Amino acid sequence: MLRDNALQGRTIVVTGGGTGLGKSMARYFLMLGASVVIASRKLETLQKTAEELAAETGGQVLPLACDARDYAQVEKVLTDAVAHFGRVDGLVNNAAGNFISPTERLSARAFDTVVDIVLKGTYNFTLVFGKYWIAEHIKASVLNIVTTYAWTGSAFVVPSAAAKAGVLAITRSLAVEWGAKYGIRTNAIAPGPFPTQGAWERLFPAEILGEKLVNEHHPAHRVPLKRVGDHQELANLAAFLLSDYASFINGEVVTIDGGEWLMGAGEFSGFHTLSDETWDAIAQQAKKK
Ligand code: HXC
Ligand code: NAP
Repeated sequence: MLRDNALQGRTIVVTGGGTGLGKSMARYFLMLGASVVIASRKLETLQKTAEELAAETGGQVLPLACDARDYAQVEKVLTDAVAHFGRVDGLVNNAAGNFISPTERLSARAFDTVVDIVLKGTYNFTLVFGKYWIAEHIKASVLNIVTTYAWTGSAFVVPSAAAKAGVLAITRSLAVEWGAKYGIRTNAIAPGPFPTQGAWERLFPAEILGEKLVNEHHPAHRVPLKRVGDHQELANLAAFLLSDYASFINGEVVTIDGGEWLMGAGEFSGFHTLSDETWDAIAQQAKKK
């Protein structure tokens, strides 16, 4: 979507960049000329992804092992990234943990685990990199990956919904605080369903969707456009929001879900299944009255 070299000279850290949407965003940032740090717990996965993306794009990728819940490990990511690339000026808080469960079945530790990865992981990275940008006078850009249920809430993923709502609050708060003082932009993307192994295994398991993934629980059925998202569509938006083309966008959350959450919210959205004959009958009755 963007011009060649739109991210030339940038170094962008993508948490959870070894898999799924993080990997797809990292690939496109590299194609646009950025250098990329990918950070998550599994070094082997990161190394494989780094090799693959470097070969595919010719860009520079630094894989760093890090548990986002541990502040000291996040500080080490900053130190290593700056030692390797000289500076960092973009951060995508994409790492997450999630699973579906009736809330009353969760242990306190299960709740902690998801909230710590999503909310604590995001504020750990944001704080470590924010302190560095402020000290170095770098007008950086932060992009937080949330979900549409950050504002609606959702049954069966309550720890994730609570944590993503917190991340959205951080996004809007820092857009003002760090925007005004330091010129640091903070935005968010709220994706609808984008197939990834990590999300699908945990949120739409075979017990729910069956083998063919076509029943009424398939997320595509909830989307007006009748499909799930394509990774490149999300990567385009992420690259745009981090680039100078979006230099006046700050504190925004951009939804990319084919209209899914609005369809769930609209009182009459389910009526799209009514036939033309039914609509004719309704019109005739209404005119008679
Ligand atoms: C109930 C569960 C559980 C489950 C784990 N736990 N899975 N409880 N149902 N399915 C409980 C465990 O029993 C344990 O509590 C506690 O959670 C911690 O589990 P661990 O396995 O020790 O945690 P850990 O190794 O840190 O792994 C974290 C994880 C795992 C979140 C559980 O799934 C993970 O690594 N996820 C990373 C990737 C991911 O989740 N991707 C999906 C993102 S999709 P006890 O009390 O027993 O010790 C997304 C939005 C999608 O975020 C929106 C789609 C539209
Ligand atoms: P994914 O591939 O499972 O990505 C999650 C990533 O987070 C993994 O790479 C994982 O790597 C990393 N991670 C987990 N715990 C971590 C920790 N403690 N420290 C550091 N990294 C950690 O799933 P995805 O679908 O691409 O999700 C990416 C983002 O999109 C998430 O924020 C998710 O909430 C959001 N999202 C996804 C969808 C969707 O439909 N896919 C919809 C809405 C929002 P390690 O295991 O190596 O740590």
